[in-house]
Amino acid sequence: MLLAIETSCDETAACLLDYRQFIDNPEGVGSALLAEEVSSQIKLHAEYGGVVPELAAREHLKNLPVVVNSVLEKTKLDVEDLSVVCCTQGPGLKGCLLVGFCYGKGLAYGLGVPFLPLNHLEGHLFSVQLDSNYRSTLYPALTLLVSGGHTLLVLAKAFREYQIIAETRDDAAGEAFDKTASLLKLAYPGGPAISLAAEEGNSSAFNFPRAMPKDSGSFSFSGLKTAVSRQVAGLAGSLTKADIADVAASAQSAIVGALVDKAEIAIKNFKIKEFNLVGGVACNALLRAELEELCGQHKLRLNVPKPKWCTDNAAMMAVLGARVIESRFSEFSAWQAGSNFLGPNASFDIGVKPRFPINEIVG
Ligand code: KG4
Ligand code: ZN
Repeated sequence: MLLAIETSCDETAACLLDYRQFIDNPEGVGSALLAEEVSSQIKLHAEYGGVVPELAAREHLKNLPVVVNSVLEKTKLDVEDLSVVCCTQGPGLKGCLLVGFCYGKGLAYGLGVPFLPLNHLEGHLFSVQLDSNYRSTLYPALTLLVSGGHTLLVLAKAFREYQIIAETRDDAAGEAFDKTASLLKLAYPGGPAISLAAEEGNSSAFNFPRAMPKDSGSFSFSGLKTAVSRQVAGLAGSLTKADIADVAASAQSAIVGALVDKAEIAIKNFKIKEFNLVGGVACNALLRAELEELCGQHKLRLNVPKPKWCTDNAAMMAVLGARVIESRFSEFSAWQAGSNFLGPNASFDIGVKPRFPINEIVG
């Protein structure tokens, strides 16, 4: 039994995975996923219009034992049944990461089982393996990872061999949705609110910028924020429901367009075998549809997780943990035999990594 813990931002999550069953069955996670729990803090942070790090850490402290007990109760398992504990080490908010990491390390130590520190971004990449349609990854694989904190295109040449193809210079795509929503006084988080408002709007009403169309290595969304803010200020006092819908539709079209433009350049530049769309913004229906069309034109398989596995969760960390164990099975078995509870790159001194680029993963 594998327990995965995720507390990098504002979601407190735990998952129990029968990792042997998952590794032995090549077709998706299925019944190997025994239980998962995500406790969201969205309501708490909504009144501030964004995640307040100190409050988030305190909430994790309160909620983590609850979600861990809940997955154990659901499966009628006991902590003694755990054979490995996996936990997000970074990137993320320091205080938040510390809560999950110290809890996980302590639990593994107490039980005398291995402790596996994991990268949150790599977890998002592995979220596609939760889908029932999942088939073994074909390399090279390209992933567009779009969330509230990150926007990047990652090329995986082989298992754990990552190259960052493009990254944002300023705001993340999710942040662009959130800031646009805030300017329009729509609900937090902004992504779902913008896509809902956009349904009634005209996406050509305003010509918002798609930054640096020819620069294949960078995304940028700060110019869009300024343009939306000017537009909203220009309409001030007379901002009708129709204006809000038009601004939302035009901004959504600019954000999605910029993402799809870079994806297309990368698809043309690298001979990839499949395309993955992951992270909270992967919930966006327009983005899904446009990438489906693009991948169709290039005869590429597109993998997108269910919405609950696009946003932060522990199930994606659990399948990543299982794949790491699979890749180093003899080492892993030896740790257990010697009741050496720490992973190959871990030691008692190991700490969290608030900054942890995906191409700096070792192991
Ligand atoms: O992956 P995630 O849960 O958290 C981070 O790791 O950041 O992503 C949250 C982000 C938020 O910015 C939210 O506005 C965005 O995902 N999001 C969406 C949609 N649903 C969530 N953005 C666009 N369209 C959506 N339907
Ligand atoms: Zn995330």
